[in-house]
Amino acid sequence: MGNYSSYSNISDISNYVTLKSKKLKMIVGSIKENTVLEKRISLTPESAKNIIGLGLKVCIEKGYALHLGIDDNEYKNIGVEIKASSKEVFNSSDLITKVNCPSEDEIGILKDNSILIGMLNPSKNRNQIDKIIKKKIKLFSLELLPRITRAQSMDVLSSQSNLAGYRAVIESVAEFEKAVPMMMTAAGTVPAAKVLVIGAGVAGLQAIATAKRLGAIVSATDVRVASKEQVESLGGKFLTVEQNEDMETTGGYAKEASDEYKKKQAEMMRDALKKNDIVICTALIPGKPAPRILTEDLVKLMKPGSIVYDLAAEQGGNSAFSEAGKINSVDGIKIIGVKNLMNNLPLTASNLYAKNLFSFIRNLYSKEKKDFNINLEDEIIEKSLIKSF
Ligand code: NAI
Repeated sequence: MGNYSSYSNISDISNYVTLKSKKLKMIVGSIKENTVLEKRISLTPESAKNIIGLGLKVCIEKGYALHLGIDDNEYKNIGVEIKASSKEVFNSSDLITKVNCPSEDEIGILKDNSILIGMLNPSKNRNQIDKIIKKKIKLFSLELLPRITRAQSMDVLSSQSNLAGYRAVIESVAEFEKAVPMMMTAAGTVPAAKVLVIGAGVAGLQAIATAKRLGAIVSATDVRVASKEQVESLGGKFLTVEQNEDMETTGGYAKEASDEYKKKQAEMMRDALKKNDIVICTALIPGKPAPRILTEDLVKLMKPGSIVYDLAAEQGGNSAFSEAGKINSVDGIKIIGVKNLMNNLPLTASNLYAKNLFSFIRNLYSKEKKDFNINLEDEIIEKSLIKSF
C-alpha cells in the first residue's frame, strides 16, 4: 500500500487507479485535412472501430469527414470522441494520423513527443519535416515502407496506385470521343479502341485490367522483363524492347534506362503510337524525375482524337506537352496531366488508406505494454521512421 499512502480513503485510491488506467489507454487522433487540396481522410468509421478494438481510444476534429457525407455521429456511435478543434485533438492524442504532411500552422500546434503517421512525401516536404523532428515527434512516412510480404496490408503506394490505374482509364475513356468496345450492329461495326500502357507496375497493371474489361485491345511495355508475364496474364500484349542489361533493382523497381535503351524504346513507340487511340503513362523511377518517354515528335505521330493520359505528370511527366492539372490539345491529340487524382474517388481511396494505416498501427501497438512500441529491429518500423535528413 506504500504507493497509495497519500490517499486518505478507498475512494481516492480507486480514483487513482481509474485515472491511471485511463491514462494508460493510448489515444489516436486525427484532424481535418485541407479539403480544398485533399479530400481523403485517414480514419474512417470502420478503421476507427478497429483501432478501438485494439484497446485504444480515438478522437477526431468536429466535422471531420462531412465533405464525404460522413456525419460525426457515425464516429460517435462507435465510441469516437469529437473534439471542437484541431488543437484539442493534438493536445489529447499520443498518435496522430494524417493523409498529407502537416502545414506550417498545424506544425505550430503539434504536441511534442507524440507520433505522427501519414504520406509525408519527405523529399518534397523537407522543411516541414525538419521542423516536426525538432519537436521530438516520431514521424512515420508510409511511402517508405519496405515492399515485403508482411507489409502488403500497409502498402499505401499499392493501394493508391491501383486506384490511379483504374481511374486513369475511366477518365481517358470519358475524354475519348469514340466508343471503346467492338460492337457489331445493324448500322455497322464499331472497331475496338486500342490502349497502350507505358509502365506495368501496380498502376499500369490495373490500367490494363480496366481497359480489357471495357473491351479495348491492350498492349503494354516496361523496362522490367518480369512484367511481361504479368501483362500477358491480364490479356495484354507485351511490347518488348530488346536489351542486354537487367533493368530491375533487387527491390523490384526500375533502373534509369540507358541512352541506347531509350533509342530502341523510341523506335518501338513510333510504330505503336500510330496504331493506338489511348496511351496511359505510368512509368516512374524511385527518387528520380519521371522518365521522359514520349517526345514531341512521338506524340504528334498519334491520330487526331487520341488521348495521352500522363499519370506521372506531377513527377515531371512521361510525355511531352503534359502539365499537371491541365488538358493540352496538340494537333487534335489531348494530353491530360494528372493532379491529385485520388480526389476523384476519395471514398474508396480513404477506405483503403485507412485500412493500410490501421494495419500499421496494429503492428506498432503492443497490447502487453499498452503502448506504441518503436522496435527498430522490425524492418517495417525501422524503414518507415524518418530519423533525420
Ligand atoms: P513504380 O510506380 O515505381 O513504376 C511504375 C512502372 O514504371 C514500373 O513497373 C517500372 O518498371 C516502370 N518504368 C520505369 N521506367 C520505365 C521506362 N523508361 N519505360 C517503361 N517503364 C518504365 O512501380 P510500382 O508500381 O510501385 O511497382 C514497383 C515494383 O514493386 C514492381 O515490381 C511491383 O511488382 C513491386 N511491388 C511489390 C509489392 C510487394 O509487396 N512485394 C507490392 C507492390 C509492388
